Amino acid sequence: MLLTSCLQVAAVLSIVSASPMSDSFFKAESDPNYNVVPFYPTPQGGRIEDGKWQAAYHRARQLVDQMTVVEKVNLTTGIGMSNGPCSGNTGSVPRLGIESLCLQDGPLSVRSADLTDVYPCGLAAASSFNKDLAYDRAAAIGREFKEKGVDIWLGPVYGPIGVKAQAGRNWEGHGPDPYLEGVFAYLQTLGGQSQGVIQSAKHLVGNEQELYRQTAAVANAAFGIKYKHNNTNELNSEIDDRAIHETYLWPFAEAVRAGVGSVMCSYNRLNGTHSCENSHLLNYLLKEELGFQGFVVTDWTALHSGVEAAIAGLDMDMPGEPKYWGPNLTAAALNSSVPIDRLDDMATRILAAKFAIGVNNPDGPNYSSNTFKTFDFEFSPQKQGSQIQVNKHVDVRTDENRAVSLRSAIEGIVLLKNENEALPLKGENGKQIAILGQAAGIDSKGANCAFEGCADGAAGTGYGSGAGTFSYFITPAEGIGRRAQEGRFSYEFIPDSWDQTAAVEAASYADAAVVVANSVAGEALGEVDGNPGDLNNLTLWHNVIPLIENVTSVNNNTIVIITSGGHVDLEPFIENENVTAVLFSSYLGQDYGTALAKVLFGDENPSGKLPFTFAKNIDDYVPLIDNITVDEPADKFETSIYVDYKYFDKYDKPVRYEFGYGLSYSNFTLSDIKVETIKQFSEDLEAAADYTESYRNENVNLKAEDATAPDDFTLIENVTYPYIKDTSSIQSNGSYDYPEGYGTEQLKSPASLAAGGLGGNPQLWDLGYVVTASVKNNGPYGGGFAPQLYVSFPDSDEFPTPPVQLRGFEKVFLDNGHSQSVSFELTRKDLSVWDTKSQSWKVLRGDYKFYVGSSSRQLDLVETVTIN
Ligand SMILES: *[C@@H]1O[C@H](CO)[C@@H](O)[C@H](O)[C@H]1NC(C)=O
Ligand SMILES: *[C@@H]1O[C@H](CO)[C@@H](O)[C@H](O)[C@H]1NC(C)=O
Ligand SMILES: *[C@@H]1O[C@H](CO)[C@@H](O)[C@H](O)[C@H]1NC(C)=O
Ligand SMILES: *[C@@H]1O[C@H](CO)[C@@H](O)[C@H](O)[C@H]1NC(C)=O
Ligand SMILES: *[C@@H]1O[C@H](CO)[C@@H](O)[C@H](O)[C@H]1NC(C)=O
Ligand SMILES: *[C@@H]1O[C@H](CO)[C@@H](O)[C@H](O)[C@H]1NC(C)=O
Ligand SMILES: *[C@@H]1O[C@H](CO)[C@@H](O)[C@H](O)[C@H]1NC(C)=O
Ligand SMILES: *[C@@H]1O[C@H](CO)[C@@H](O)[C@H](O)[C@H]1NC(C)=O
Ligand SMILES: *[C@@H]1O[C@H](CO)[C@@H](O)[C@H](O)[C@H]1NC(C)=O
Ligand SMILES: *[C@@H]1O[C@H](CO)[C@@H](O)[C@H](O)[C@H]1NC(C)=O
Ligand SMILES: *[C@@H]1O[C@H](CO)[C@@H](O)[C@H](O)[C@H]1NC(C)=O
Repeated sequence: MLLTSCLQVAAVLSIVSASPMSDSFFKAESDPNYNVVPFYPTPQGGRIEDGKWQAAYHRARQLVDQMTVVEKVNLTTGIGMSNGPCSGNTGSVPRLGIESLCLQDGPLSVRSADLTDVYPCGLAAASSFNKDLAYDRAAAIGREFKEKGVDIWLGPVYGPIGVKAQAGRNWEGHGPDPYLEGVFAYLQTLGGQSQGVIQSAKHLVGNEQELYRQTAAVANAAFGIKYKHNNTNELNSEIDDRAIHETYLWPFAEAVRAGVGSVMCSYNRLNGTHSCENSHLLNYLLKEELGFQGFVVTDWTALHSGVEAAIAGLDMDMPGEPKYWGPNLTAAALNSSVPIDRLDDMATRILAAKFAIGVNNPDGPNYSSNTFKTFDFEFSPQKQGSQIQVNKHVDVRTDENRAVSLRSAIEGIVLLKNENEALPLKGENGKQIAILGQAAGIDSKGANCAFEGCADGAAGTGYGSGAGTFSYFITPAEGIGRRAQEGRFSYEFIPDSWDQTAAVEAASYADAAVVVANSVAGEALGEVDGNPGDLNNLTLWHNVIPLIENVTSVNNNTIVIITSGGHVDLEPFIENENVTAVLFSSYLGQDYGTALAKVLFGDENPSGKLPFTFAKNIDDYVPLIDNITVDEPADKFETSIYVDYKYFDKYDKPVRYEFGYGLSYSNFTLSDIKVETIKQFSEDLEAAADYTESYRNENVNLKAEDATAPDDFTLIENVTYPYIKDTSSIQSNGSYDYPEGYGTEQLKSPASLAAGGLGGNPQLWDLGYVVTASVKNNGPYGGGFAPQLYVSFPDSDEFPTPPVQLRGFEKVFLDNGHSQSVSFELTRKDLSVWDTKSQSWKVLRGDYKFYVGSSSRQLDLVETVTIN
């Protein structure tokens, strides 16, 4: 089973001569019409006062100082698609004992490795509103990456955040509220990296749909996808400065604050320039303003230039294309068109991330993402080299990890509707349950078709690089059936959703008819039932709407279970009086059916909350960009900071279930709000501390003769090496056409008030207020509940703000009749708006309202504080 060969890029023999390079090597396709303020040079890593990172930089510099140009380039460039065991593999530096780095998909599992767990997706994890679980789930997944010998975990996903209902990859992220996503980003970074694996927070930024993320020619050649318009340029996300800061960049800032070691730049363009060669994005926003200390890696094949990308702040090219980096980067460094300081910084950042996070895998990866066979060629795609053991079949699953995965699945389930106490299911002997719907059973292609997509049955994950490889998969029919049997219910499962005669017959005499419905979204690595990653429509799949209609006509206790990548249309059945209960979740991983059964039968009380809003009218969702001009496909991001509930609230659009909503089998109430003032904030931040001195490598070796392959070195075709062939033409002429604003002088102090520490100016996390409230479980069951804190900002013409914004949440577990106090901490950043003029965060003057509630529209308690 070849899992990664699906993307066949043109690769050429990578020994090149150092002849003059084409124009595209230097020029990003930047468009003067966009207001992208260029920023040069790339801030050198290691200049922020931070003990852990500075120690790591010290170690890294000692190594980089000893390296030749080709050795440095080797760390920055992958060895090519499907070469090596992992999704991506860098070159190595054998002389200094530095191994090739292994980069592996994906966000919810060690994709394409055997004997691993497949966890609930990011959106399901976010639905738990449980901080402990955010940390624990990431730590458990991180442990599996570590034990498979992975250095860099390609995830989690903080973009797309899920602005568009039909976008294919929303389930990989944590929903469109930046605060919720940000808390997950912070805790998942701490949890995942605690295991000694670097995370690559992805995708930076504005990759909010799959359609047109690549050119039509590339999407068609690589994946057989046919776009309606043959775009010759990648989709351009035009995002305004406030929205970038207050929405799209926010979760990445939290990941950086927690010390994330890597960030992945995305396929799309941002304001006219590709993300991976956008100096405003990488040099300014990420490395200067957010103080990011790790390395930036491309999404796979997202590189479009050589020098331009290098000086814009890119540090690593994956899977490694000789066209731009590898030998061409070597030549560019030798002739000084890429300053050697920049190449040093790239290599140093990569090694510093490794040391800061404590990555140490001397034995390398013990699996192959190319095959499940035990032995294979050393160079698998070329069928060259010796036969080596590529899979050691190390079982990294543990009872503890399975328990974390299951808990995350259970808490990822949101109870949307529960009439007549339909749930939990009651009774035993003689009670009859009908389990109905194609989505309840196994796919005809089995459980592991998710990489390239399957659409025929139960969905444990979405498809694409975010999928996992199941070592077991409990479908809803299996999980619910097994639990029904244990409870001495009688049950039957009828999978046919097309000829509904049997389903209707079974429903007509069942005490409860459980209909399972889904919709399967994914990455544009292929088409699934004609959907190119993004969904063609928001209707639930497999003819299930007629099935629900038919079943409800004969059964007045119909329970609908919905599993999807996010938004779907609930309106066709949600008000049907015979639909007594509805459960929603995003993809729940290996224990999908187990988790559903525990909730349905009341072994667990549902406690999930919606991480997005279900509209009443699907036309109120932000549509995919589909009508484009082929040479300049543009996405205007017109909703700016008004995303999800902020949009529905501001424009008073009808919602079916709002952000933060989710029922329990118990009744929880909130009371006794109190606000303690810790600090009254000034309007503006104070400047953060100066940077430490920049570092200069005194041992620079620019000898072209050291940049050729050793005589005895066997070069394998289609592997990317750093070597050049012809040294004679390397000469520095220093007259390259650098982009406007280009310079090489490092700053002494932060460029703006917003900058100066990991994630931004450290004062952004100063504590201002602590809000407390009391939560009571009025019964009749024990269970979990997630109270939420929303802030409404002072009225301001200059800085209009959404009616309310999430700024805190907690999760409490209480026995029937018990109560507990919860507290929410509000920081300066929580109470700030982004001021584009000063390029910094501002606390407004006036009345702030702090609400504590059980959803974004059920705001039970309020207190006002005035900031003068
Ligand atoms: C990379 O180098 C080769 C050989 O010098 C050259 O033909 C090619 O144009 C270079 N790539 C680019 C994008 O300039
Ligand atoms: C570059 O990396 C490759 C692949 O790991 C390795 O074979 C080669 O020796 C490295 N070259 C140098 C100069 O270290
Ligand atoms: C897009 O290109 C394909 C392949 O060249 C062609 O078959 C198709 O007609 C084109 N579509 C449009 C809308 O031009
Ligand atoms: C993108 O362009 C818009 C319009 O010119 C501008 O307001 C915004 O600041 C730019 N955003 C970024 C991230 O450069
Ligand atoms: C190298 O890549 C080219 C283009 O994909 C392919 O035609 C060729 O067969 C490959 N060579 C080997 C040895 O795999
Ligand atoms: C189910 O409903 C569809 C239309 O909604 C109808 O055509 C079909 O006959 C029904 N099937 C059964 C078995 O009642
Ligand atoms: C919606 O998409 C699904 C999945 O591709 C498809 O089966 C269904 O026919 C579509 N429904 C409508 C109304 O277009
Ligand atoms: C609800 O179910 C009952 C059978 O229990 C049926 O008589 C009634 O027509 C159904 N109502 C709807 C709206 O389908
Ligand atoms: C549902 O249908 C059952 C069996 O037909 C009947 O006994 C019961 O009263 C109905 N419940 C409601 C709420 O209509
Ligand atoms: C597509 O965009 C063009 C140019 O903006 C416009 O004239 C046309 O009406 C649009 N078509 C649709 C179906 O929206
Ligand atoms: C929950 O309990 C409170 C206090 O007993 C009561 O006022 C409220 O109506 C109950 N809510 C629900 C949804 O039952």
